[in-house]
Amino acid sequence: MDVIIRSDYEQMSLYTANRIAELVRKKPDCVLGLATGGTPIGTYRELIRKHREEGLCFSKVRTFNLDEYLGIGFNPEQPYSADQSYARFMHEELFRHIDILPENTRVPDGLSDNPEEFCKHYEKAIREAGGIDLQLLGIGGDGHWAFNEPGSSLASRTRIETLTRQTLDDNYELFYRAAGFLREDMPHFAITMGIGTILEAKSILMIANGKKKANVVRQAIEGPVTSQITASAIQLYAGKATVVLDEEAASELKNIDHYRHCEKVIAS
Ligand code: PGA
Repeated sequence: MDVIIRSDYEQMSLYTANRIAELVRKKPDCVLGLATGGTPIGTYRELIRKHREEGLCFSKVRTFNLDEYLGIGFNPEQPYSADQSYARFMHEELFRHIDILPENTRVPDGLSDNPEEFCKHYEKAIREAGGIDLQLLGIGGDGHWAFNEPGSSLASRTRIETLTRQTLDDNYELFYRAAGFLREDMPHFAITMGIGTILEAKSILMIANGKKKANVVRQAIEGPVTSQITASAIQLYAGKATVVLDEEAASELKNIDHYRHCEKVIAS
């Protein structure tokens, strides 16, 4: 696993966007696994800038998102503030600003009539696309990857998961408060890719910023592998994994000097 430390959120986002752009240029029909949340917004802004100013082309790129709230769907008729689906988030924060084809973007269907069946179908769609070339991941305050909450099997597949109180609190901060939703109105369930599904991606980019992620980042990458911190599954990952952090999120790492040394040696 490579650990890359950048001075601040902007530099973390720039590094991450550069890595994604490099893949898109090398393999224009690549399959990207995408994430929602506050952390990737800067990365998406930089990708949009690269599209507008550098001609970065997404017309053949296919995407699969990690997760979606159950019971919520994207309604283009509603304003952003009234629609808290992750499909909407992706549309507003990335897809509508670039030349990606809507039919090439997949977000789990939170309004499916048969969510269990949908989960199997989602796994099949990923396989049929040839697998995910690069999976972008944040890390939740409770150590989750996607919505794989503490106690999720590290071999889990796409399925319905019950959200922890901490996740509800964290996400309420981000989306719901602004939209005037009440905490009680938040969905308690979500469709999420499993940890086993994520570990099949051909490469992984995990990003985190800010002091409040420092402890959970340390647990995930330097603590024991445990289903209590599902992002610790990164330690079981066989492919190329890169963790991109800002100084604050890296501030509790025990081996920080070693990570900086590795980056310098590799670059030289
Ligand atoms: P955040 O969420 O980017 O909003 O901190 C990360 C996550 O829950 O994976």
